[in-house]
Amino acid sequence: MEEKKQQYELLYKQAKALLADEDNLIANLANLSSLLHFAFGFWWTGFYFVDGERLVLGPFQGPLACTRIPYGKGVCGSAWAQKKTLIVPDVEQFPGHIACSSESRSEIVVPIFRNGEVWAELDIDSRELGTFDEVDQAGLEKIVELI
Ligand code: SME
Repeated sequence: MEEKKQQYELLYKQAKALLADEDNLIANLANLSSLLHFAFGFWWTGFYFVDGERLVLGPFQGPLACTRIPYGKGVCGSAWAQKKTLIVPDVEQFPGHIACSSESRSEIVVPIFRNGEVWAELDIDSRELGTFDEVDQAGLEKIVELI
C-alpha cells in the first residue's frame, strides 16, 4: 500500500515533467498511457474522449479496444454518467460491462473534467481480480489533473 503510494508520487513527478514541454494532447496522452501501463504492468491502459453521446477511443497501450461506447453503458459510460471514478474489482459482477478483451478481470475508470463536465476518461484494465483500490484512485485522479 505504502509502496504503491510512493510509486504514484514518483509517477506524478514523471508525468508532470513529461507534459511540461509539450502541448499536443495526443502526444501527451500517448506517452502518459505508456508511462502508467509499463509502471504497473497493466493489461490495457488508455483514454476515451467524449464525442457527442458516445465515447471514442483515444491513445492507449494494450490489445485492440472498442472504439465507441455509448453514454451510460459499460464501466466507461457509467463513470461518465455518474461523473465519478468507478473501481470494479470483478468485471463479471458489473452489470453491462463491455468486454473489449476477455482477459480483463478488474478495471478502474477515472473521468477527466473541464469546467465541471467530463470531456475524457482514463480507463485501466487488469488481468487479475481486485487490482485497483483507493490508492490507485487518488494517484490516478491527481495525475489526470495534469492533462
Ligand atoms: N470495459 C470497458 C470498455 C473499455 S475496454 O475495457 C478498453 C467498459 O465496460 O466500459
